[in-house]
Amino acid sequence: MIMERVLLISKEPEKWGYFEKKLSNSYEFITSKPEEKFDLSNITVVATDEVENIEKIRSTGRKKLPIVFFGKANDFSTEIKARQLGIADFFSIPVDKELFLLRFRNLSGISKMIKENDDNVRWMQMIRREMMSIQEGMAETIAQTVESRDENTGGHIIRTSMFIGILGEEFVDRGVLTKAELDLIVRAAPLHDIGKIGVRDSILLKPGPLTDNERTEMKKHAEKGAELIKKMQKRFESHTYLQYAYDIALDHHEYFDGKGYPNGKKGEEIPFCARLMSVVDVYDALVSDRVYRKGMPREKALEIIFSGKGTQFDPIVLEAFDNCKDYLL
Ligand SMILES: [Fe+2]
Repeated sequence: MIMERVLLISKEPEKWGYFEKKLSNSYEFITSKPEEKFDLSNITVVATDEVENIEKIRSTGRKKLPIVFFGKANDFSTEIKARQLGIADFFSIPVDKELFLLRFRNLSGISKMIKENDDNVRWMQMIRREMMSIQEGMAETIAQTVESRDENTGGHIIRTSMFIGILGEEFVDRGVLTKAELDLIVRAAPLHDIGKIGVRDSILLKPGPLTDNERTEMKKHAEKGAELIKKMQKRFESHTYLQYAYDIALDHHEYFDGKGYPNGKKGEEIPFCARLMSVVDVYDALVSDRVYRKGMPREKALEIIFSGKGTQFDPIVLEAFDNCKDYLL
């Protein structure tokens, strides 16, 4: 049978051998000096004889572990201080062995309940993370399914997500974005064209230039995508990346000078993440092969991108793009 363990943290553990003797049949009693690094992972109750150690014990990972205090009889000021710091019980010599064990058993019960509760919380967090990852994976799968309808754009989702990560790093370095925000943007990027799910095959797969009407219908993918993501947001409120996905899907075809679609937003009215996506989306489209044309050489594509400075694209984003363009495929 594995005995429950009591850890005594004391400069003079031998002073408290009295308590150890009374517990010895029921608990394993181990000691540690306050200056030593103590491990509380398999401890049921921790004991100490100095008020200063209480904070130190609390600062470890196991904040709720019951702490008992071994003090002198009638040392009320120490007992008050220790109780104010949240100890679970206070013992002084002499104690009745039976009563001492009963009080320790109560503390063991509390310790076990706390551990079970912590385990449950950890378990729930793990399940929640797992669920979020599944939901996110489903959204990405839908995006890839949409992409797979159009054989022309194979790999576009993966490449643009990668490019936006590289471009975004420039802004993390400048303190414009946090690493966490960039992570959300990268996770949101695969959904930028999810609205193409609502575009007819005859338009989406047309191996040539679109008519005006067809172009109008194709342009609706931005709003359709945003609507879809809005629905996902209602269902999965905890997915913060969906707000970036919404902004990117809706505004990745807006132009910095206000001449883009769907709403003709201008400059900083266009969410920053969408301004990033706008550049990487166009760059990838230019260098990729289509049924009706070969992808253009990188230099030519870069020329076109930089000619859109201040008209199609945000000059600040282009400046960053210029810095990292050599890392793009
Ligand atoms: Fe698009």
